[in-house]
Amino acid sequence: MASEGLIPPSRIRVMRNRAPIDRAALEPVLAPFGSSKSLPADAYTSAELFAWEREHFFSASWVCVGRTKDLCAAQGCSQVRVGDESFVLTGDGSGALGLFHNVCRHRGHELLAEGERREGRVLQCPYHSWVYGLDGSLWGAPHFSENDGFDRSDYPLVPVRMHEWNGWLFVNASGTAPEFDSYVGSLDSFVSPHRVEELVVAARHDYEIAANWKIVTENYHECYHCPTIHPELCKLSPPNSGFNFDPDGAWVGGRMEFETGAETMSLSGRSDVGAFPWLSDELRGQVLYIGLFPNLLISLHPDYVMTHRFEPLAPGRARIECLWLFAPEAVARDDFDPGYAVEFWDITNRQDWSACEGVQRGAGSRGYRQGPLSTREDAVYDFVTMVARGYLDGVAGRVVD
Ligand code: FES
Ligand SMILES: [Fe+2]
Repeated sequence: MASEGLIPPSRIRVMRNRAPIDRAALEPVLAPFGSSKSLPADAYTSAELFAWEREHFFSASWVCVGRTKDLCAAQGCSQVRVGDESFVLTGDGSGALGLFHNVCRHRGHELLAEGERREGRVLQCPYHSWVYGLDGSLWGAPHFSENDGFDRSDYPLVPVRMHEWNGWLFVNASGTAPEFDSYVGSLDSFVSPHRVEELVVAARHDYEIAANWKIVTENYHECYHCPTIHPELCKLSPPNSGFNFDPDGAWVGGRMEFETGAETMSLSGRSDVGAFPWLSDELRGQVLYIGLFPNLLISLHPDYVMTHRFEPLAPGRARIECLWLFAPEAVARDDFDPGYAVEFWDITNRQDWSACEGVQRGAGSRGYRQGPLSTREDAVYDFVTMVARGYLDGVAGRVVD
C-alpha cells in the first residue's frame, strides 16, 4: 500500500522530465513561423532550468567532446568531461577506442585527474593500485587473491556510449539517447563532401563569454544582424544570400553564397591555400553553417572548416572552443599560415560575442519580453522550437523516426 505523501514512480518520471519553465510562455515560441516569438527569459537566466538542460539536453544527448585525434594518444588514456561527468577515453594502439566512467571499481577513486593524459598499455588507480587494461578489464587487484571467490572479471570499468563521426567524438552519458544515425539524420550528406574526417586542426582560440549557450546558437543561425555588426562579413557574403535546409535530425543549418570574386571568408576575400581539390564548383561558392544540437557549430568553407564547440558553465556563461581545420597537404607546406582565416573569424567572433552578451543582459532585465522573429530568422525558429519541444517532452533534440 502506498504511504500518504509518496508519489507513484510513473509520476516521478514525468515530473523529472518536464522542464521547470512556464508552459504558457512556450506557446508563442511554437506558433507558426512568421508569427512566433523568442524564448522566455527563464530559458537564459534560470539556474533550475540550466540544471535541467545539463541533464536532459547534454547528458541525455550526443555531446561533442572534441576531435578524436586530439583527445587521446594512439595507445593510452585521457580524461574527458561532459558537464558534471568525468570519463576515461582509451586508445589501444590499433585504432580501437574505449570510453568509461572515470571511477575505479574498488572504492570509487577517480582514475585520472582533470585533464590528465597517460601513454601506455595500462591504467592504474592512484589510490590502491588496481590496474585496468585499455579495454576496461581489471588486470590486477593487489592482495585480492586472499579474498574467497574474488573474480577480476566481475569488476571491469563501466562503459559509456560514444560515437565517432567525421573525426569528432560524441558521448552520450545517460546511455538513453537515440542511435547516432537517427540523431543526425541526413546531416552526413552536408558534412562529408568536405572530407572533414581527414582535416587537421591548425589553429585554436578559446573564449569565455557572459551569455547563455542558446544565445550563441541563435546568433549563429541568422544573418539578420550582419549588416549592423559585421561590415567585414557583408563585403564577402551578402546577408540575403542565405538559404536554410530542411533539417531531419537534431540539427539546424543553411548556406550562404559569396560575392563575385570572393573565395573564402578572410579579410581580403582570398584564400591562402586554395579550395579543397575534391570540392564541387557549387561548394566552392558557398559556406555551410550547421549547428548540431546541443554543442557543435560547423562552418564549412571551400578551403577550411571552422568549428565552435561550447560548454555551458552557468545560465549566463559559456566556454567556447573555436578550431580551424585544414587539409593535411596545406598544413605540410613550408609557407602555411592559417592566419588569414583565424584573423577574419576572430574579429567576427568578438563582434558576435558582444552581441550575445548584450542579449544576455537584456534577458536578465525586468523589461525583457518575448519578441517576434523576422522572416530572416527561420533557422533560429528551427532551433528555438527544437528547444521548446525539448522542454515539453523532456527529450533532447529532434530525431528522425
Ligand atoms: S579506489 Fe581504486 S584501487 Fe582502491
Ligand atoms: Fe554574427
